[in-house]
Amino acid sequence: MVRLADIAYPSLRQITAFLSPRRIVFGIDSRKDLAKEIRRLEGSRPLIVTYAEPKLISTVEEIVKILRSDGMDPIVYDQAEPEPRIEVAENLATYARNGSFDVVIGIGGGSAMDLAKIASMSVTNPKPVRDYLGVDLVPKKGSSLVCIPTTAGTGSEVTMFSVLSVGKKKMDVASPHIIPDVALIDPFLTATMPPQLTAGTGMDALSQAIETVTSLAATPLTDCLALTAIQLAAKWLRAACADGSNLEARSGMALAATLSGLAFGSGKLTLGHSLAQTFGPARKISHGLSCGIALPYVMDFYLPVIPERLSLIAEAMMVETRGLSVSEAGKVAIHTVTKLVEDVGIPLSLKEFGFAKGEMSELAEICAREWPRPNSPRELTDQAVREVLEKMWEGRILA
Ligand SMILES: [Fe+2]
Repeated sequence: MVRLADIAYPSLRQITAFLSPRRIVFGIDSRKDLAKEIRRLEGSRPLIVTYAEPKLISTVEEIVKILRSDGMDPIVYDQAEPEPRIEVAENLATYARNGSFDVVIGIGGGSAMDLAKIASMSVTNPKPVRDYLGVDLVPKKGSSLVCIPTTAGTGSEVTMFSVLSVGKKKMDVASPHIIPDVALIDPFLTATMPPQLTAGTGMDALSQAIETVTSLAATPLTDCLALTAIQLAAKWLRAACADGSNLEARSGMALAATLSGLAFGSGKLTLGHSLAQTFGPARKISHGLSCGIALPYVMDFYLPVIPERLSLIAEAMMVETRGLSVSEAGKVAIHTVTKLVEDVGIPLSLKEFGFAKGEMSELAEICAREWPRPNSPRELTDQAVREVLEKMWEGRILA
């Protein structure tokens, strides 16, 4: 059995920083405290960024009512979209600059929160959003920012990333200046997610946590968060998919997503998200679903070099590993994750999504070029990624 205290951390040979929101408010019905949180930030003129989606309308109406009863007059911008395009971000930036908002509230899944980050930063940073794509290119903190997730997956409510679609590519604004001031997580708001969305977003949270555990940038702090997120997802994802009204399961998954966001925000992602960001957009497969498909293969890829870290994942998933070698325990982790992916109805091969085997080499080349991960414990060469993608195409795990 491997203990966290036995792990050697490459990241601790250099200076590391852990980033997070100033306040994380968590709990069923915590949305009712939003006005109080805005006052705490000394805000009074809120802009709500969300999508015009039937399931979200009543949530947004309730939030507006809560704020109005506190004397505020929120403006709702509902032109957010899933996998938001840079053009949508530019329009929102212009809208936010022309208003006199002092606090931005993002309500929705990762994309609504990511766009709220853009609205907030645009108030004080006047250039086109395009100019801020990249790492640490936002010079100033924007208006106050509160993020309220209605899915349990991306953890965007606690991270410094805003992911945008630029043509066919995914690119991000990555800056400490866009970390929300307040992450307000009310698991009740996730209860209307249908099973397929619950499964996909849950897999995003699990994948982010597992990738962070595999990362060379992981620290004891990120491991504590990531391993707890893994434990919660292992315990609650099936139940949340089976019965959306189970608030205990919804709370477990909401917490898993937030912990996963806190973990990968500083511990960084590895091959899973590189693959998901490459093949997902090619067939319009959602981000979460793409993460779920890739996850067992990514663990398989890393098993030869970090078996002790995969063994920690097995223990986090509450699987018996006593008497097993570290490598055997790592394999158990892969089997356990594979079973979870299957149980929540996610297919495990790329051919089921209409890909041809011949496409794998081009995808591998794009993946290695566009999404290199310096913190990956195995180098992501074209050939290494192609071998993983070919296994994924066939549905060949641990073979
Ligand atoms: Fe993700």
